[in-house]
Amino acid sequence: MDFSKDLSIIILAAGKGKRMKSEIPKVLHRICGQPLIYHVLKQAASLGPKNAFIIIGHKKEVVREYLDNNFPSVKAIDQDSQSGTGHAVMMARHDFPDMGKNILILSGDSPLITAGTLDSLIKLRSENDLSVSILTSITQDPAGYGRIIKDRDGKVLKIVEDIDASREEKMITEVNSSIYCFDKDHLQENIDNIDIQNSQGEYYLTDIVEMLINKGKRAETFVISDHQETRGINDRSQLSEAEDMLRQRINKKHMKNGITIHNPSSVYIEGTVQIEPDTIIEASCFLRGDTVIGKGCSIGSFSQIDNTKIGRSTIVKSSVIIDAEIGPENNIGPYSYIRPDTTTGKKVKIGAFCEVKKSSIDEGSKVPHLSYVGDTEIGTGVNIGASSVMVNYNGFSKSRTIIEDGAFIGSDTMLIAPVRIGKGAIVAAGSVITGDVPGNAMAIERAKQKNIKNGAVKYRNRKKMDREK
Ligand code: UD1
Ligand code: CA
Repeated sequence: MDFSKDLSIIILAAGKGKRMKSEIPKVLHRICGQPLIYHVLKQAASLGPKNAFIIIGHKKEVVREYLDNNFPSVKAIDQDSQSGTGHAVMMARHDFPDMGKNILILSGDSPLITAGTLDSLIKLRSENDLSVSILTSITQDPAGYGRIIKDRDGKVLKIVEDIDASREEKMITEVNSSIYCFDKDHLQENIDNIDIQNSQGEYYLTDIVEMLINKGKRAETFVISDHQETRGINDRSQLSEAEDMLRQRINKKHMKNGITIHNPSSVYIEGTVQIEPDTIIEASCFLRGDTVIGKGCSIGSFSQIDNTKIGRSTIVKSSVIIDAEIGPENNIGPYSYIRPDTTTGKKVKIGAFCEVKKSSIDEGSKVPHLSYVGDTEIGTGVNIGASSVMVNYNGFSKSRTIIEDGAFIGSDTMLIAPVRIGKGAIVAAGSVITGDVPGNAMAIERAKQKNIKNGAVKYRNRKKMDREK
């Protein structure tokens, strides 16, 4: 069924979220790298609605700015006083004429909801021509939730809020998720009749259910088996529980797609990350942002990779890589730090304890141990000896180093930028290079060695005499 013509979405997100104890509006708190509202909007958008509205109130400027930058087609509607969920929906009344026959109401603080469930909820309403289909779940711990009151035949009568419920009603385990699909006309005709006759003096959206039933209209519940999916977030521990669930969901998706994940409960992968089959992710890895990992890679434990593209069959061991592009069949780490604007070609090695920043390293080149490569272009087949530094900063400005194809840089070399090492040149170990080295030349910059005959013996004797004094 194509809902695009007759579906509109209203997301309630004006509430304060007092229990978060935060300066940040609740719906902008993040799980798996994205705000709560992002997760809700992503699922909603995948249903192909005609339009989407979001009710904002508390800290609305900040929420509006986020929406403008990330979901510009969603219309934000102000609710200046947060007088309840019914009042929030009333705020959308001027937009009802633009809305489709199905109005899906979602909560900005229930980020685990999936499009599949929402799709079923919408179908339940439209295929049975109900006034409203209500998403519910069964939980052994219903405290805090609105309870679904049904008659003996299982017909929905009303929803009673926890705080207004009698002792018997409190025993009911079917709870309201605050997610509904309404028939637009029935919602529009009744929304303004909701009153504040309840213990909180608020306009409850839930009251509309009884109102519709009393008019002979029909409501049904769609009970989902997984109560977790509808859980709302009210405090930081629920925030972390929700993140945990989303993380598990993401990890499972990758494993299903042919990725091996060792100890997945320790692995954090954001929803935006793409991984190709036969890659292995070891324990305690963090993969974030727009990271793309090719086929058959091995990402060793304690690696952190942000916004980085990695080619196929690359091995990364316990390293941090940020905003970089790593080629295929590379060997990175252990314990290296690869910073933004680094690109590597095929079969590059960046070994142990290296730092690379704003540099390109072409095919087959190696930086195996303890080096700093900054603002540098390295050609193909270059070897950088241990403990070498591309000295890019003079205290005032940064300069670039160029090392052409096939050059060999001996260990413990300082290349003082700007400097160019020509094709096939050799720089002897321990040199401090301040000028360009022509292709195929050998540069050596160190004091001449002198060997003192029996110098070691004389030295030890002198020390021994000093001690005996
Ligand atoms: C609501 C439901 C309850 C359900 C529970 C599920 C009502 C009266 N109760 O209760 O039956 O079991 O959700 O989590 O609807 N909001 C506004 N403006 C307001 C008030 C709330 O936009 O004036 C938004 C909030 O930001 C939130 C959503 O509506 O996203 C739900 O509000 P909340 O106060 O959390 O409702 P609950 O008391 O949890
Ligand atoms: Ca809530």
